[in-house]
Amino acid sequence: MKIRTISFDYSEYDDATSLRGEDGRLVAEARDAALRAYAPYSSFRVGAAVRLESGTIVTGSNVENAAFPSGSCAESSAISNAVSNHPGDRPVAIAIAAMNSRGITPQPVTPCGRCRQVISEEESRYGKPVRIILHGESKTLILEKCSDLLPLQFSKDDLRNDRQK
Ligand code: THU
Repeated sequence: MKIRTISFDYSEYDDATSLRGEDGRLVAEARDAALRAYAPYSSFRVGAAVRLESGTIVTGSNVENAAFPSGSCAESSAISNAVSNHPGDRPVAIAIAAMNSRGITPQPVTPCGRCRQVISEEESRYGKPVRIILHGESKTLILEKCSDLLPLQFSKDDLRNDRQK
């Protein structure tokens, strides 16, 4: 038996205005996307903005449904929009922002488990990291890759018949 440890570094900003240019732009797009959410049931509006390798920015918002499980999250909507409308253009970063009735949340929101899996697929298919920018009004966190948020994840390697454990 061995004990193994997984840890990761991330950066924390108290003031989003100090974010570097491209990251700051992506945060602004995520904040805008939150305004376009359809969230009449939770009143919790989430926006996500994905930057592609070409520089194109693609957004998504949460879209709720009276049949609650039929709703979709902002992050997976943004990734679906990017993958289906810009095939082959690799996602390099995603920014996420959320709003409640008081405005943008002070603390950053982190993606749900399913969205972590969806973002991680982009890392796995291209073999490169997707930068994660979690934006709140009082604090913004930056992680260099999504797999940090989903250690020991299920991936395409698990589907290989010849995989040796
Ligand atoms: N939601 C997102 O869009 N992304 C997340 O990372 C967490 C939750 C949405 C789903 C639902 O419409 C609302 O927020 C409340 O859970």
